[in-house]
Amino acid sequence: MAVAMREKTYRLYLDYLETAETKRRWNIFNDIPWDEFDLAKTTPATAASVEIFCAEEMYLPDYSINGLALVRDSFGPAWFQAAWAFEESRHGLVFREYLTRSGLRTEAEFAILEAEIVAKVWKLPFATTRQMACYGALQEGATFVAYRAQREQARAAGDTVREAIFHLVGRDEAAHGGFYRSMVELELAEDRAGTVDDLAFVLANFKMPGDGLIADYHARLQATGAGISPRVFMQRVVLPLLTTLGTTRDELRLAQMRLRPAA
Ligand SMILES: [Fe+2]
Ligand SMILES: [Fe+2]
Repeated sequence: MAVAMREKTYRLYLDYLETAETKRRWNIFNDIPWDEFDLAKTTPATAASVEIFCAEEMYLPDYSINGLALVRDSFGPAWFQAAWAFEESRHGLVFREYLTRSGLRTEAEFAILEAEIVAKVWKLPFATTRQMACYGALQEGATFVAYRAQREQARAAGDTVREAIFHLVGRDEAAHGGFYRSMVELELAEDRAGTVDDLAFVLANFKMPGDGLIADYHARLQATGAGISPRVFMQRVVLPLLTTLGTTRDELRLAQMRLRPAA
């Protein structure tokens, strides 16, 4: 990485960390109103939704190992990965605590779920730091949108515990998306055409981390109402990202045509 880019990504991480440390830290012990839990405000579908999200968050060791290995020689992105991993570790944990403290799932059921999770390995979906920044911007954005819907649903149901959880976890995802978005902006300033090509490539091959790892991922998300549709993904994740980055669907389409191998 060029010296100027190293300095910019380090500054970006330091800004990220300052906000995280001063405004966004939370913990599962004091910031969730656990004693307000009311089983009557849950349904089998809400429990099943939290379980899928929990499973997806529990691939954290794979996300961390692969993510850090990719950026280990870039100080800012590497330290971001370390901070990111800590923040993400709270997500799977708080979902697990919600399910077990409430009695919605037993420890024995969780033991089975954990065994299913570690039986599969998440692999890096894209090969370069720049492509993974594009992926992170999209993936964190999609996760934020899905969790915001969960928060709204919990609020409507009067489940204050689930509402608090999805508020805090969703706020983390929004911050993660913001960091990756800023990384893509820096990359665009360095090499616009190459970065647009990468974004187009990542978008054309995008799938969520749990897709392919968690059994019946799409069917279960659909059945529980926890998934986001392709239309919502486009309107609430992709288009706002393109606007922030100062690019358009047309520019991406041109890049995708360029990338397509000649017939
Ligand atoms: Fe997360
Ligand atoms: Fe995240």
